[in-house]
Amino acid sequence: MIKIGVLISGSGSNLQSIIEAVNNGSIVAEIALVISNNEEAYGLTRAENYGILTKVIKHGDFGQCQEFDQELLRVLKENRVDLVVLAGFMRVLGAAFLAAFPDRVINIHPAILPSFPGTHGQEQAFDYGVKLAGCTVHFVDEKVDHGPIIIQAAVPVLSNDSEDCLGARILRCEHKIFPRALALYCAGNLRIEDRKVKISGVDESALEDQFLISC
Ligand code: GAR
Repeated sequence: MIKIGVLISGSGSNLQSIIEAVNNGSIVAEIALVISNNEEAYGLTRAENYGILTKVIKHGDFGQCQEFDQELLRVLKENRVDLVVLAGFMRVLGAAFLAAFPDRVINIHPAILPSFPGTHGQEQAFDYGVKLAGCTVHFVDEKVDHGPIIIQAAVPVLSNDSEDCLGARILRCEHKIFPRALALYCAGNLRIEDRKVKISGVDESALEDQFLISC
């Protein structure tokens, strides 16, 4: 069975949706451990509530990003992790880390990429005044928020929205598409071809009618 290592920095609501999907059998995998770079991340408590191994590795304890990455790698390898999942992990992983997990690092971003990469994607979309916002699950490559896209979902931006209100609507969508993307990965249903992610085992014929989620 695939072993997942989840990296977090904060609340861990996406982590929670992943744990629930593993527990109900929609994701066929085991969560080997959860690592946070922030010792106060509430996601650590969520993981502990389910008896999942947790580790804190603080980036501030390392002089250079590469050393932080190496320590992450060491712990992930020690726990025989196959797939690294970034669930609100607010650090950028370097080339050496990614080379150790080729096409095996998956991230969620709170915007419809390639629009609004970087931090605070929801706020960027709100400030820009788009009418559709959303989220993206993608493989991680060496450029920030750039790798092959697995699933995207769109939500409307309403006239009386606040940033918080829009952010919460996007987050609810994240909780749907992230477990879905991981389930597809773990079932062996994703293939990257020329940077496009081909999905098998899903009936895509109805997508034009219910276009809000891309698969
Ligand atoms: C989520 O909105 C996620 O998309 C975002 O951080 C939040 C984490 O929430 N990630 C990024 O912005 C990564 N660039 P959570 O801790 O409740 O899952």
